[in-house]
Amino acid sequence: MQASEFTQRFDRLFGARPRIYRAPGRVNLIGEHTDYNDGFVMPAAVAFSTYVGIAARPDRKLLIRSEEFAGDFDFDLDHLPPRRTGGWCDYMLGVATVLQQRGCELNGANLLVHGEVPIGAGLSSSAAIEVASALALLSLGKTQLPLPEIAQLCRKAENEFVGARVGIMDQFVSCMGKAGHAILLDCRSLDTKYVPIPADVRLVVCNTMVKHDLATGAYNTRRAECEEGVRYFAKYDPAVRALRDVSPELLDQHARDLPETIWKRCCHVVRENQRTMEAARALASGDLGRMGELMRESHRSLRDLYEVSCSELDLMVEAAENLPGFCGGRMTGGGFGGCTVNLVRQDNAQEFAAQIAGRYKRATGITPQVYTCSAENGVQALS
Ligand code: GLA
Repeated sequence: MQASEFTQRFDRLFGARPRIYRAPGRVNLIGEHTDYNDGFVMPAAVAFSTYVGIAARPDRKLLIRSEEFAGDFDFDLDHLPPRRTGGWCDYMLGVATVLQQRGCELNGANLLVHGEVPIGAGLSSSAAIEVASALALLSLGKTQLPLPEIAQLCRKAENEFVGARVGIMDQFVSCMGKAGHAILLDCRSLDTKYVPIPADVRLVVCNTMVKHDLATGAYNTRRAECEEGVRYFAKYDPAVRALRDVSPELLDQHARDLPETIWKRCCHVVRENQRTMEAARALASGDLGRMGELMRESHRSLRDLYEVSCSELDLMVEAAENLPGFCGGRMTGGGFGGCTVNLVRQDNAQEFAAQIAGRYKRATGITPQVYTCSAENGVQALS
C-alpha cells in the first residue's frame, strides 16, 4: 500500500496529515513452541504488514478507526478500560495501557488502522498491530524506547490485557526483522543473530484456510504441561528454570518416569531447541539439504510429540514433497491450522505454488492461498 493513499484516506476521515508506521507479520522457519520455554526460535518478518496512522488531538481522547475491521472506538486516555473489551481495538488499548504503566506520557490521538496480514492464518497479525500502534503512540510523546523493549511491552499487552499467554517471538521479529535474513533469537537473553537466507531461496507460505477452535485452549494446556515438566526436572537439577535448561541427556534419563504426555511435550521442546541452533548453522552455510531435513523433523515432532498439527497442515506438508526446487517445509506458528512455510529455489517458486495449491485442493477440497515471500525489515516509519 502507498503511504500517499493512506494519508489521503486519513485526511478524509480526520482532516489531518498522519504519521504512519508499518509493522510486519512473520513466518517462523524453525523453533516452534520454544519461545515460552526460554528457548530458541528462528523467524523472519514478511511483507504482509499492518499500517497505523496517527495525528495528535488537543484533548485526551483516543479515536480508533479501521477500514477493514468493523466498529468505531472512542476512549479517554485517563480512563482506559481495565481489561479487554472483546473488540479488535484491544490490541491498541493494551499497548496504550502498558505504555502508560511504563511511565510513557501519551497524547490524545486520532488513529487509523489498515491491516494486510491475513487474520487467523498464524502470521502474527496481532503482533503487527501491537508493534505499529506502539511506535505510533510513542511518536507523539517524549519517551523513546529501544525496539527490544517495545517488543517486550507489546507482548505484555497481549499477555495481560488481551489475555493470550504468547511468547516473545512474534513481537520481537516484527520489531527487529531484517531484509534477507532470519533472526536466531535466544528468548531468554534476547540475544540475536541475523542469519542470511540464500538470495536464490523464497519462503513459500501456504495457507490451509482452516483454524480449528481448540487453538487457544490447547496453547494454554501446552504451556501448563511444559511447566509441569520444569517442576519435575527441577527436582533433579535445581538449575532447571525452564525447559531450555533440560539437556537431552537429562531428558533421556527420565524417559520412563514422566507421565507420557509430559515426556512427549518436553521431548519436543528440548530437541526443537537443538534443531533450531543447528538450523541456524545450516542456513548460514547454505546447507539447504540439512536445513530442509531439520524443518521436516520439526514438523513430525509438532505432529507426534507436541500434537499441535492437524490433518490439513499435514496434507499441506506432504503436498510439497518431490516438487522441483523444494528444500524443506513445516507448519509455522501455534498450529491447529494456519500456514506451512516452505523453502523453495527461486526459479521453481512460481511452479511450486501452483502445484502445491492443486495437490492440496485435490486432497481436501479447499482452495488454499499461497504467498511467495522474502524476509523483510521490521517496523518502520513511512514518510
Ligand atoms: C504463537 C505465539 C508465539 C509462539 C508460537 C509457537 O505464534 O504467539 O509466541 O509461542 O505460537 O511457536
